[in-house]
Amino acid sequence: MANTIVLGMQWGDEGKGKIVDLICPAFDAVARFQGGHNAGHTVKFADRHFALHLLPSGILHPGVTCILGNGMVIYPEAFLKELEEVTAAGVAAEGRLWLSDRAQVILPVHVALDGAREQALGKQKIGTTIRGIGPSYEGKAARYGLRLGDLQADDLEAKLERLLAWLSPELAALEADPPPTVAELVTLCRGWAERLKPYLQETSGRIHDLLDDGRSILFEGAQGALLDIDHGTYPYVTSSNATAGGACTGTGVPPTQISGALGVLKAYTTRVGGGPFVTELHDDTGEHLRRRGNEFGTTTGRPRRCGWLDAVAARHSRRLNGIGTIALTKLDVLDELDEIQMCVGYRYRGERLRHMPTRLDILSEVEPEYRSFPGWKTPTVGILDVADLPAAARDYIAALEQEVGAPVGLVSTGPRREETILIDRPEVHGLLGDRTADVLRHRDGG
Ligand code: GDP
Ligand code: IMO
Ligand code: MG
Repeated sequence: MANTIVLGMQWGDEGKGKIVDLICPAFDAVARFQGGHNAGHTVKFADRHFALHLLPSGILHPGVTCILGNGMVIYPEAFLKELEEVTAAGVAAEGRLWLSDRAQVILPVHVALDGAREQALGKQKIGTTIRGIGPSYEGKAARYGLRLGDLQADDLEAKLERLLAWLSPELAALEADPPPTVAELVTLCRGWAERLKPYLQETSGRIHDLLDDGRSILFEGAQGALLDIDHGTYPYVTSSNATAGGACTGTGVPPTQISGALGVLKAYTTRVGGGPFVTELHDDTGEHLRRRGNEFGTTTGRPRRCGWLDAVAARHSRRLNGIGTIALTKLDVLDELDEIQMCVGYRYRGERLRHMPTRLDILSEVEPEYRSFPGWKTPTVGILDVADLPAAARDYIAALEQEVGAPVGLVSTGPRREETILIDRPEVHGLLGDRTADVLRHRDGG
């Protein structure tokens, strides 16, 4: 029985949603632990297509409990809308969807502030999703934030007064629209409290009850390690810990209960928003990756910046997260290329750097050292056995394993569940326990 963390190893959009949905049958519960509706996780199977932002990607599995942990920031309107959408699609959520009463609330003023700050930053903007994520986490750290449990509290009005006292001067200075009155916010929050009531829980205690009963939990990361507020390319990051430690603080589960981490790694790199990107391509190959990989944001629709796989950055992620197995995604996007490059080192003013530098002025200046691979020029979509992959693709994967320092256990060759190779190796069985057969059945449409 495994309690596994699934994490993005790059700057998000690695295909976490697809992988979580695929391996769900091996787990009893799926928990999100950080971020909010800045995430966009796509799940496709047969002719169905879901874009999930707040709900864990386990929601499409009727027997799986879905948890939105205390480390998240929740815009109740977005939660309720998404719930309505999946309900309309025939998904029954009540009773198996738990929302932490400790999670922070995102209010419309946070969204307004996010937008006004970005506009004021001009060329230096972070390129946020303008969902109010940063301002809400900021309120949490500064201790004037509102938690979901507070929506029902007797002193809600006083809490909102305090919150507005913090945010209003900045909104005014940025010439943003004036915020709603405290009375308007109280009405909004009380309405949310009523509608969220069936889902609000003290989730940490309930997760421990599950663990005590021998149930297994999958922790679904959002964003990626390079967007982590501590370990990413600060300040061009999100405002939460998207690395493995976030799964513990964001749910209340101690590290001793975690079995390991599965890192989702795209066969090339993408990034949305600003910040350094060592292997970015501004040429026809970059355009080819964007078009072939359909690299447009699930949340904002923005075109994603594209480039070669950066094994230096992926190694940094592997170490930070204790990645024991890699789920390699979007290999098929490379199918038509004559030549494929992988960055295996950074050069800075004549010196070879062993690790990703902290300072962005250095990271912006480093030159990638590339290793070149011949393309396989044949479709890999839908291949189910690793032995059936073209030899050149297997060579690329072997080199990646060596450079990053962890074995590849899953290879994704298309957006659908059924387009995934599960490699028969101990790491994969360790991850899925005695339920590997259930995952295979699920992949094959059972
Ligand atoms: P997430 O945020 O990590 O869950 O990733 P997104 O869903 O934002 O972006 C990944 C995109 O790639 C989605 O459109 C997926 O449907 C798609 N996708 C996932 N795996 C594969 C794959 O192996 N091949 C192809 N071509 N598309 C994939
Ligand atoms: P998933 O879970 C890719 C990026 C934004 C911006 C920075 C800060 O789908 O992989 P924020 O709104 O969080 O304050 O924005 O982080 N970003 C993502 N990029 N995938 C995501 O989520 C992202 N969530 C945030 O583009 O650069
Ligand atoms: Mg995404």
